[in-house]
Amino acid sequence: MTKLLKEFKKPVSGESVFIGPDSDKDIIIMALESSCDETACAIVKNGREVLANVVASQIKTHREFGGVVPEVAAREHLDAVNLIIEEAFDQSGLKPQDITAIAATVGPGLVGSLLVGLNAAKALAVTYDKPFIGVNHLNAHVCANYIDTDLKPPMIALLVSGGHTQIIKVDDYLNQSIIGETIDDATGEAYDKVARLLGLPYPGGLNLDRMAPSGNPKAYKLPDAKVPGEFDFSFSGLKTAVLNLTRKLEKENGSIPKEDVAASFQECITSTLFKKTVKAADAYGIKQIVLGGGVAANSEIRKKFFSLEEKGYRIFAPAMKYCTDNASMIASSAYFLANTMDSLEIEVFSRC
Ligand code: KG4
Ligand code: ZN
Repeated sequence: MTKLLKEFKKPVSGESVFIGPDSDKDIIIMALESSCDETACAIVKNGREVLANVVASQIKTHREFGGVVPEVAAREHLDAVNLIIEEAFDQSGLKPQDITAIAATVGPGLVGSLLVGLNAAKALAVTYDKPFIGVNHLNAHVCANYIDTDLKPPMIALLVSGGHTQIIKVDDYLNQSIIGETIDDATGEAYDKVARLLGLPYPGGLNLDRMAPSGNPKAYKLPDAKVPGEFDFSFSGLKTAVLNLTRKLEKENGSIPKEDVAASFQECITSTLFKKTVKAADAYGIKQIVLGGGVAANSEIRKKFFSLEEKGYRIFAPAMKYCTDNASMIASSAYFLANTMDSLEIEVFSRC
């Protein structure tokens, strides 16, 4: 079997550096993440051991607008980026010389925001003559499961974030294929839209998750959309159904039992995600399922999946701080070589 090592070049001296899980040396990767509304820097040893994890969140700024304003986000990334890099070095007690390589998110995400982290990482790579590794944000959400665990592929990954919903078959560290995805709204997007309908503040998903346990999940029957692909999803009809339901309730009762609506929505969407992911795992005979992305922090999703452990499945979900956007997952993804890009010429991309 070929070794899992990839050759990267130092940008100034041109020296080769071999990175990957089969390296016989410790590999320490510093990573930056700025794809949306978190500016993050982390330093991670051998893809699994976090030596520093710093996140500057813009939640307060965007709350007054009810969502992320791209131009404002980019400016806040610029203000935060140098500070979080310094903080990460302080937390780890390391110096730039101790770092093996510098990684950054290349996409998908907000272009203006991505540019800040990517250019800061390229500048650090040139200044300290360290290899540069570009990372795909979606791969990184899956790789968050390697942090603090002994997880090894094969596995089925359910990626549920603000912009994406995918079932991914991960055959080994390098090879993976998307076997199902949403044909319209992403899970996080559906959560955020329904949260807004219920008058919950940004970030909606988290606030809806907090409200749902005090409601009755069986109060309202919401539609489970039929889609042609066996492992695909569609959530825009569900969102519209919640809109119609809230209008009807308002008209008939003069108020909305928000807790019951939140609980019914959460039950409907998490059941669909759960059923299709398990179906995919069974179809491929894979007993290891991992969750990734901001919605992997959801209490009901975690509860449903972890209940499978009784049936002999191995379930992984990142610690809460590694579910939502962070740079440790970027460093981990760079180390495991998942979909990495190594040219300093590389440019940001907004969509996959
Ligand atoms: O992965 P992420 O931090 O950013 C993207 O890459 O999109 O995901 C953000 C999404 C948002 O839609 C947010 O509302 C949702 O994750 N989210 C949650 C929870 N925590 C964050 N949704 C449901 N329940 C949660 N506990
Ligand atoms: Zn994300």
